[in-house]
Amino acid sequence: MEAVDALLSRVSAPRLTGSVPASLLADMVQAAQRAPDHAQLSPYRFLAITGDGRTALGELMVAARLADAPDTDVTTLDKLRLKPLRAPMIIVGIASPTPHPKVPEIEQLLTAGIALQNMSSMAWARGFGAIWRTGDLAYSKHLQAGLGLVAHEQITGFLYIGEVEGRLKTPSKPISAELLAHWP
Ligand SMILES: Cc1cc2nc3c(=O)[nH]c(=O)nc-3n(C[C@H](O)[C@H](O)[C@H](O)COP(=O)(O)O)c2cc1C
Repeated sequence: MEAVDALLSRVSAPRLTGSVPASLLADMVQAAQRAPDHAQLSPYRFLAITGDGRTALGELMVAARLADAPDTDVTTLDKLRLKPLRAPMIIVGIASPTPHPKVPEIEQLLTAGIALQNMSSMAWARGFGAIWRTGDLAYSKHLQAGLGLVAHEQITGFLYIGEVEGRLKTPSKPISAELLAHWP
């Protein structure tokens, strides 16, 4: 897909199936590294979770939820356990900022977010779908520890990726006057 078409047509794909080729994953990692990055700090890293790893992620989600909210009912836990199975691959985006005299943390978090979005855009441009999800558990210390994050790291998102199943919505966001003003 042409870059302009990809940028203007991207929508999230909530239903994903099939598999993600290794070549696409490699392209996505390259695209992530094209995020603007003040002082070239690369303040991000990623985990790719596929196959049985998704089952392990579901179990980790259940354990984290129980640690955070021990009274969670079984139905909720069962739903949670199945969530990672909604796509053949999940990329966990991790912001990994480091103290820097000229680059405040906010800039590094933005870079990490853009890097994950670049991955999503690459998947879309190559004909695959993705959806960026977080949910409470992205902010759970138990889940973060289970995924191996260290103290200064945060989850930017769970990027679900795969072949698109079903119909997608048509993007319909006309430029609004409130979004763009000319100054002065
Ligand atoms: C940081 C971040 C976190 C998000 N978390 C969720 C989420 O947990 N669940 C969800 O359904 N959508 C979430 N979204 C929104 C979807 O990724 C998506 O953008 C939204 O459904 C609008 O669809 P569109 O991308 O096709 O415009 C999140 C988006 C961002 C940027």
